Amino acid sequence: MSARPGLWVTLEGGDGSGKTTQAELLGSWLTDAGHTVLRTREPGGSDVGRLIRDIVLHHRGDIAPRAEALLYAADRAHHVENVVRPALDRGEIVLQDRYLDSSVAYQGAGRVLDGTEIRDLSLWATEGALPDLTVLLDLDPAAARQRLDSADKPFDRLEAEKQDFHTRVRDAYLALAGAEPDRFLVLDAAASPDSLAESIRARIAPLL
Ligand code: TYD
Repeated sequence: MSARPGLWVTLEGGDGSGKTTQAELLGSWLTDAGHTVLRTREPGGSDVGRLIRDIVLHHRGDIAPRAEALLYAADRAHHVENVVRPALDRGEIVLQDRYLDSSVAYQGAGRVLDGTEIRDLSLWATEGALPDLTVLLDLDPAAARQRLDSADKPFDRLEAEKQDFHTRVRDAYLALAGAEPDRFLVLDAAASPDSLAESIRARIAPLL
């Protein structure tokens, strides 16, 4: 979305890559500097989205891959129209955990659907909305799995997928970043949280 007053930043990466920690650090830094920040996420950044989140993450049993793709796209359509666009129109900074790149990586490469069709579905759902900046926290799936194991929380449907699923997701993310280098900042998520936060701040500062 160009020619809008706010700034829209999305965070992407595999499960366990540290997106939430970075969103918290960046959110505090921006708020301390006097900006109005809206922290949100997909799936589940709206009232309808919370219902969809429960299905996609906690439904017992399989969901047909195309149905899963449509559920994420439905969440996204409602979220962008009711939460993201209004905040950007008010001139706020929207800091968002996951967006359409997650669908291309997880439903496209992970579930082996056509990545271009998945992207087009999301672009249709959101009338073409794209973030100003997407931070990709890139991490080897084996290292990510160790982090998730030590967090000692039950796995959701996607986290429980096997290693080769997560390897395809990672490779798809890197390909997306390679295709749109102006939108993406790719960071090695094995770095310390503080140094990652510093790199993200350096990239965002000129956009403020
Ligand atoms: P979440 O608990 O938000 O995980 P994380 O903290 O790792 O971001 O769960 C989101 C899960 O949903 C995550 O495994 C990725 C998956 N997902 C998709 O498969 N497609 C999508 O379009 C989105 C937004 C998320």
